[in-house]
Amino acid sequence: MKGVVLAGGLGSRLYPLTKVTNKHLLPVYNEPMIYYPIRILVNAGIDELLIVTGGNNAGDFLRLLENGKDFGLKHINYTYQQGEGGIAAALSLAEYFADNDKIIVVLGDNIIEGNIKSAVEKFHTQEEGARILLKEVPDPQRFGVPVFEGKKIVRVEEKPANPASNFAVIGIYMYDQKVFEFIRSLKPSQRGELEITDVNNFYISEGKMQWDVLNGWWSDAGTFESLQYAGNMVAKTGANKI
Ligand code: G1P
Repeated sequence: MKGVVLAGGLGSRLYPLTKVTNKHLLPVYNEPMIYYPIRILVNAGIDELLIVTGGNNAGDFLRLLENGKDFGLKHINYTYQQGEGGIAAALSLAEYFADNDKIIVVLGDNIIEGNIKSAVEKFHTQEEGARILLKEVPDPQRFGVPVFEGKKIVRVEEKPANPASNFAVIGIYMYDQKVFEFIRSLKPSQRGELEITDVNNFYISEGKMQWDVLNGWWSDAGTFESLQYAGNMVAKTGANKI
């Protein structure tokens, strides 16, 4: 299993903090944001990592992370996204790296208190398909939201005005090698992006999506409020506990 951290995008919701740097290099309490998603993967036993980034500050990731020695890694892979296109477009750049292996994808602004070891172990034994992680949140309309029939997810709705549940689909996704075929068939959404939610809906329509609920707190860090919340939570409890 291999890991992919998606760290591109314009970070427009954090402007002007992101005017001269990439969102994922901003501080969350005492570390750069991207340290947290990297640790999610490393703590789950993943040691082959790809960072997908873009924009004017891509070189700063190399200077910051080097070959990953702060994380106990010997090597980190990097790739460059030209222009924008959404999470699924960024993920499509990981096809050569995945090389038919299963992958775990983490959005570069997702921060968790604990770890994802048990979900990853389940995905190891899952023969095919995908696995997502859910967390109950007070503001589901900001996220991808699962629609349940009993215990089964029948679809995910992206930022619904009237959420069908109180759960968010967090930005940690596990996929088999079919993900790249699905991405190739995607059409841009109304916001002009290839949506990760559409990828998840492909797996759901094929009956090949499993899910778990994450233990411990979770936050994204892509808005002023969530960036501050994430920093406060890291200060209070720490993150990426094993
Ligand atoms: C993205 C996804 C959304 C998911 C969220 C998690 O939203 O589109 O489904 O719930 O990440 O952080 P974005 O941050 O791009 O608005």
